[in-house]
This record gives sequence, structure tokens and C-alpha cells, in this order.
Amino acid sequence: VREPDLVGRHVVVSAGGTREPLDPVRFLGNRSSGKQGYALARAAAARGARVTLVAANTGLPAPAGVDVVQVGTAVQMREAVLKAAADADAVVMAAAVADFRPAAYATGKIKKKDGQDPEPVTLIRNPDILAEIAADRARPGQVIVGFAAETDDVLANGRSKLERKGCDLLVVNEVGERKTFGSEENEAVVLGTDGSETPVPHGPKEALAETVWDLVADRLT
Ligand code: C5P
Repeated sequence: VREPDLVGRHVVVSAGGTREPLDPVRFLGNRSSGKQGYALARAAAARGARVTLVAANTGLPAPAGVDVVQVGTAVQMREAVLKAAADADAVVMAAAVADFRPAAYATGKIKKKDGQDPEPVTLIRNPDILAEIAADRARPGQVIVGFAAETDDVLANGRSKLERKGCDLLVVNEVGERKTFGSEENEAVVLGTDGSETPVPHGPKEALAETVWDLVADRLT
């Protein structure tokens, strides 16, 4: 446990993966387990922060001393994050938010029809929560952190994403079939708008969480 350098601070963490419904029984989802976001929430609470954890479909138990807001979709997550961010000192978007959602929701279960091809699924864009809160900061000096999962050109893609999203720090993960998702471990580089590059060696998600809060705390003072 680090020194309680987040006492008096309110931080918001998003975790998990959104599910975008097609009908009452089906959704488009992703492989995020929520473990990294929960590790971030626990670490911030241990450092003295008041923590709001906006959790999407994780099935994980609520960490002690953390306010958990459960959401399902990206649109619900946007609403919960914007509300919690209004008085937050820092926001860390660790959730895997679906970039697209089905354009239509069928109120009854979609049926297969004999001899007919399925209807194609049309997707529309979801709001980009990270870009929105970074462009329109709820308070001056609010520190905003994004996550990026990349399969190749990790650093170059990370730098351009940091710029595009307008956040202060971007945690870049290399992902693949056997990496990161659902695992207890992570390996990342944290990129800063100040040009900084903080490598976090392969290790528990708790270690990456502590590094993120170290970098956030530096920027809060
Ligand atoms: O664009 P990409 O999905 O790779 O960006 C990842 C980062 O942006 C994560 O921090 C994620 O939480 C955030 N994000 C978001 N809203 C979206 C898509 C991603 O806040 N619609």
C-alpha cells in the first residue's frame, strides 16, 4: 500500500465491457473481464480516494468502500460517467466501450426463417465517452486517463490515440488471443501528453493500477 496521496480526492473508474443488445436475448459484446478497472478502484480507495466505479457486465464483487454504479450499454455508461465526473478530480476509463451498437433493437427475439438468409445487422456509432469528457472537462485540472488495446504498432497507435482522444494519459496494452483479457496480469506502457513513456513490466493488474495512480497524483499536485 502506497501513501494515502489521494485523500480528499474523488476519482471515477470505468470497468468491464459494454453489451449492445440486438434483441431481448442477444447482444454484441467484448472480452473485457473488468479486472483491471476493479484493481484501479481498489488501489485508489487504499490511497484514500472516494471512488465511483462504473461497472459494465463484470460479475465481480463490489470492492469494499467503493461506490459501484452498474450499467449495461455504452449509452448507459456515458450517462453514469458524465454524472460522476461532474465533481471528480480524475477519471480513468478502463472499460471496453463498444464503438458501435446495432441500429435497431428488436423487442421480440429474432427468429430464423426456413430457407431465408438472415437479415444483415446495421451498426451505428456509440458516443466516445473518453473524447467527450476530455474535450469538455467538468473542472479545470481534472486528470483524464484512457486505455487502448492494440494488436500491432502499439506505441505509434497509442500516441495518435492519445492525441485524438485529448486525454492526459493513455495506458497502451498489447492484446492478442492469449494476452490480457480475463488474465490476472498485464503489461503496458503509459503515454503522457508531456511526451513521457512509462513502461510497466508484465505483472499483476494491481501493479499497473499503482503506476497509473502515481502518474495521476503527480498531475494533481
Ligand atoms: O477508440 P478505442 O475504443 O480504442 O479507445 C479506448 C479508450 O476509449 C478506452 O479508455 C475506452 O474506455 C474509451 N472509449 C470510450 N467510449 C467509446 C469507445 C472507447 O470512452 N465509445
